[in-house]
Order: sequence, then C-alpha cells, then structure tokens
Amino acid sequence: MRLEGRVALVTGGASGIGAATCRRLAAEGARVAVSDLNLEPAGEVAAEISGFPCVLDVRSTDSAARAVSEAEAELGPIDVLVNNAGYDEFGFFVNTDPEMWDRVLAVNLRGVLAVTHAVLPGMQQRRRGRIVNVASEAGRVGSQGSAVYSAGKAGVIGLTKAVAREAARYGVTCNAVAPGPIETPLLMAAPEQLGEIGERLVAGMVGSTAMRRIGQPDEVAAAIAYLASDDASYVTGETLGVSGGLAMT
Ligand SMILES: NC(=O)c1ccc[n+]([C@@H]2O[C@H](COP(=O)([O-])OP(=O)(O)OC[C@H]3O[C@@H](n4cnc5c(N)ncnc54)[C@H](O)[C@@H]3O)[C@@H](O)[C@H]2O)c1
Repeated sequence: MRLEGRVALVTGGASGIGAATCRRLAAEGARVAVSDLNLEPAGEVAAEISGFPCVLDVRSTDSAARAVSEAEAELGPIDVLVNNAGYDEFGFFVNTDPEMWDRVLAVNLRGVLAVTHAVLPGMQQRRRGRIVNVASEAGRVGSQGSAVYSAGKAGVIGLTKAVAREAARYGVTCNAVAPGPIETPLLMAAPEQLGEIGERLVAGMVGSTAMRRIGQPDEVAAAIAYLASDDASYVTGETLGVSGGLAMT
C-alpha cells in the first residue's frame, strides 16, 4: 500500500497500459481519477476500483483544465500524474503528410505538455508530486513504421528531463517509462492497418527484445507504480525501459 492517501490522475485510463495502471495504483491505496476521451469506457475501469471517471482529451488545454479541476474537487489535490494517453497511425514516413504529423504529435507530445501544464503549478505550490510519463523505446531507438510517433516520444523524454530539473526544488519528481512491445489495442492496430507488413513490424520488435516476448500492460503498470511511490524518492529525470531488454541504454 505504497500510495495510501494519494490521489492520482491517469490519462488514457480506459484501455491497455492506462487501465492496468489505474488498477495497480488503486491496489496500492491511491484514489484514482480515470480519464479518457469518452466517459463510458473510463467509467467501466473506475467502477472496478471505486475511482472517479472523467473526460479528458489531452489535445485540448481547456479539457485538461476542466478535468483537473473536476478530479481535484472530487478526490482532492493530485499527487500523482500519469501521462499515458497515446495514439499512432502506422505507416512509413514517406507516406505520411503534415495533417498526420499534427494528429500524432497532438496526443503524444502536445498532450503531455497540456496536462503537465495544468497539474504542475499545484504540485509545486504543495511542494510534493510525482509525474510519470509513458514514453516508448521508440523514442530512444526509433521504430520503423512509427517515425512521427518516435519523434514525439523522444520529445517526451526530453521534456521529462527538463521538468525534472525545474521541479526538483519544489519536491516534485518527473520520470518516464519506455515500454517495448506491449500487448494492447494500440500495438495490435499495426497488423490491422498495415496487414502483413504490420505483422512483421510487431514480430521485429518482439525479436529485438532480449527476452524474445511481448510484454503485458501489468508489467508497465508495476514500473509506473514504483516511480509514483516513495521508493523512487531519489529518482528523477530518468527513463526506465520496460521492454524485456530492447534498448538497454
Ligand atoms: N502498446 C505498446 O506496445 C506501447 C509501447 C510503448 C509505449 N506505449 C505507450 O503506452 C501508452 C498507452 O498505450 P496502450 O498501448 O495502452 O494503448 P491503448 O490504445 O490500449 O490505450 C490508449 C488510450 O489512450 C486514449 N487516448 C487516445 N487519444 C487520446 C486523447 N486525445 N486524449 C485522451 N486519451 C486518449 C485511448 O482512448 C485509449 O484509452 C501510450 O502513450 C503509448 O504510446 C505503448
């Protein structure tokens, strides 16, 4: 129960790694705001863990501000922010266009800026807080078929370090996890979108791990819970690979 009495907000909490994180943080004692694009799927996860469901579209600063104030009115000040919402459109970079760049970066990079910007001032004022960003090994080693996504995730890793430096004096830590291939709807969309090439891309990622297997959402949630807890009190600005040894940077 490392998070007893803490309040956490998870973006993209209705599915995959986000849902597993909501369950894990709640199991460790946190009261969790489960936020996502739509209320109904967020509500299903929240119902399991006596959490608070809310709508938060990370592409909108207004939506972020509204969700933060709703969650804080219901649960109290946010101690733990997990920037988890993510989105990709698989395809080779030569086949992308600027509208696609905007769609992918709006969620994966600008979304992390927007929600962090809504939560960090309060954390700094209270002189405590934990921010955990869900980046990706794609941001460290690059992922074929996901160039724009890789660029966004590399941006999240840079942001994590800069915020860690700025916020340390206020008792706030900021870290990231870098998952490898994890069995969720996001990754499984690659074969759906690209057919056989997508299947080969996923198999290539799994083959690049030292453990030669796909990861499960719970395995990422465990690393997020660690970074959110007092066990990580002297850890900030780090990016923890949860990727079966894919990058080892
Ligand atoms: N699955 C993998 O292999 C993998 C690997 C590395 C990193 N990640 C990262 O893990 C995080 C979670 O992804 P996942 O694999 O669990 O995928 P997922 O598709 O299961 O879940 C993503 C969630 O984000 C939500 N979302 C999408 N756009 C949003 C928006 N604009 N505002 C708010 N919520 C939004 C979706 O509704 C969904 O609930 C993402 O940041 C993803 O980039 C995943």
